[in-house]
Amino acid sequence: MSIPSKPVMITGASGALGRLLTRELSAAGWTLRLTDIAPFPDPLPEKASFLRYDLADGVAVMRQAEGVGAILHFGGCSVEQPFEAVIGPNLRGLYHIYEAARREKARVIFASSNHSIGFHKRPEGNEAKLDYDCAFRPDGYYGLSKAYGELMGRMYWDKHGIENVNLRIGSCFPKVVNRRMLSTWLSYPDLVRLCQAAVTAPRAGHAVIWACSNNAATYWGKDHRERIGWQPQDSADGARPEVEGIVSGDPVEERYQGGSYTSIEYSRQGGFSAKDAFDLD
Ligand SMILES: NC(=O)c1ccc[n+]([C@@H]2O[C@H](COP(=O)([O-])OP(=O)(O)OC[C@H]3O[C@@H](n4cnc5c(N)ncnc54)[C@H](O)[C@@H]3O)[C@@H](O)[C@H]2O)c1
Repeated sequence: MSIPSKPVMITGASGALGRLLTRELSAAGWTLRLTDIAPFPDPLPEKASFLRYDLADGVAVMRQAEGVGAILHFGGCSVEQPFEAVIGPNLRGLYHIYEAARREKARVIFASSNHSIGFHKRPEGNEAKLDYDCAFRPDGYYGLSKAYGELMGRMYWDKHGIENVNLRIGSCFPKVVNRRMLSTWLSYPDLVRLCQAAVTAPRAGHAVIWACSNNAATYWGKDHRERIGWQPQDSADGARPEVEGIVSGDPVEERYQGGSYTSIEYSRQGGFSAKDAFDLD
């Protein structure tokens, strides 16, 4: 995999995935500009610098992005939160990232989420998988902010020619721990390879990728992986015997792709068992 000619910025560098990317991409020889609102907890790699600030600070974002070729945008609210907590980092902060990318003509790699489409039903049997151009069906304010982020990428590509790769991350954790993750798991090495491909692909345009490993039980179908030359190499399948029986028992959570996020403050009238509750899309 080639080394980018310009520095690459990583937001959310102090978070779980930011630390992983920092470690692996610096080991691959990349020059990194890191940022987070929290201190960077690891020794700073050679060829990396770190600035601590809030993504709400547009001037700080602009300054740090000077001269970068790509921004791996992993910072912000990473779980369901009240609306007021989400809008600062995930809406305003994202706008700052895109304005910086516009000025630098940089590519944005956006850590989107399956929660932007979480209220799609899980496919059963031979039911069709979801393609990248399915409707957004966010399962909360967090998922809504990710749909907004993908649409911002759509707009900046159409209007300003700013390339962006939107990674609809399933469940990116070291291990598969429940049945849902047999469908949604993304291994750490597959994420690292995905980010390398997303940054170094000659052309990206506005791309959407289902960011999960090569899982037989996947919910997801077509996307733009060929455009960026990425194929997952790992799979959740081997964990089936240990995790198949690990389910929540919550009928809403088990019905929808977004899992536990769909049932947070769920208050749709009619309840799960009422016949008409789910008949209309
Ligand atoms: N881990 C997953 O399975 C998964 C799944 C879907 C999407 N994602 C997305 O990937 C990204 C990284 O996820 P993670 O698991 O590493 O989350 P994380 O919470 O560990 O990391 C997020 C980082 O963002 C920083 N941050 C929060 N608010 C900020 C602000 N106002 N200004 C600057 N920095 C701020 C936090 O300090 C944290 O270090 C997130 O955008 C998340 O939504 C992750």
